[in-house]
Amino acid sequence: MAKSISVFGLGAMGLVLAEVFLKKGYKTTVWNRSPEKAKDLVANGAHLATTVAEGLEASDLIVVCLLNHEAVNTTIKQALPSLKGRTVVNLTNGTSDHAREMSALVIAQGGRYIHGGIMGVPPMVAAGVAFLIYSGPLEVYQSVEQDIALLGTPRHLDAEVGTASLYDLALLSGMYGLFTGFIHAVSLVRSQPGKDKKDINVSEFVNTLLVPWLSHMNEYTKILADQIDADDYSSKSARIVMQIPAIDNIVQQSKANGISPEPIAAIQKLFILANDRGFGNDDLSQLVNHNDAKEN
Ligand SMILES: NC(=O)c1ccc[n+]([C@@H]2O[C@H](COP(=O)([O-])OP(=O)(O)OC[C@H]3O[C@@H](n4cnc5c(N)ncnc54)[C@H](OP(=O)(O)O)[C@@H]3O)[C@@H](O)[C@H]2O)c1
Repeated sequence: MAKSISVFGLGAMGLVLAEVFLKKGYKTTVWNRSPEKAKDLVANGAHLATTVAEGLEASDLIVVCLLNHEAVNTTIKQALPSLKGRTVVNLTNGTSDHAREMSALVIAQGGRYIHGGIMGVPPMVAAGVAFLIYSGPLEVYQSVEQDIALLGTPRHLDAEVGTASLYDLALLSGMYGLFTGFIHAVSLVRSQPGKDKKDINVSEFVNTLLVPWLSHMNEYTKILADQIDADDYSSKSARIVMQIPAIDNIVQQSKANGISPEPIAAIQKLFILANDRGFGNDDLSQLVNHNDAKEN
């Protein structure tokens, strides 16, 4: 295990990452564009690096958690030679190409690189209940596994460094889909003509109806996944042709009540496309075969 660590980025997430290492007794060096955010960490024993080079050279293991790829790129490029011999674990959200680009940059300087995705919010990381996904060379991952395991349950997905970003974005897409449905469902309930919005108890709707319903549907996605793995989409109970008019009714009701139908219109297009291509008798798992960017 590394005894010292440098954490780049002290936003909401980076602050918690640095705190975790500091509490575990690591000699912790931090760097942040706005150095004042390090005040409490420094009071608790962290060292504040005033330059990127100083931050990189302070430790063999470097954890990076900045806003986006551009921020990482401009930061790291301030001190490229200082990457030599360092292992960089980049936990910044980005695309697979961002991870590949950063990996190539670090390796070209004689460093080693792992990319990760944090599946949790800062309080979850602080409580040790988040999980993190990683990709990059297995031997590099294994050399830092015990250290990064302190941030949450780690899972190495693949040696190809872009994999973790792809899976991170896929998981976030699932989450934003849930939030999209949540916002649209609550908006519909609050749009009832003749009812004052403040008389509609959203918590009651969510707790007693939406969450139980979505919990069942959450389980149903496992059945859909099995259908996709088996390449068998036949449905005995929920055919695409049955769902198309139901979705159209959601669109009509939304419009009638002054709610944007756009969230549901996006998936409606896929249902119609799959049906037009002759797959109307299948279950909605069939839609994965029609989600091609060219047609949508
Ligand atoms: N917060 C979450 O719930 C969460 C969960 C999972 C993953 N993540 C990911 O973790 C990363 C950090 O998130 P966060 O919540 O800590 O974000 P944040 O609170 O907005 O902090 C952003 C960090 O990036 C730095 N930064 C922004 N632009 C920069 C630039 N051009 N050059 C150098 N530094 C720059 C900021 O520095 P300053 O302090 O100087 O502004 C700050 O340290 C993101 O990629 C995010 O997607 C976050």
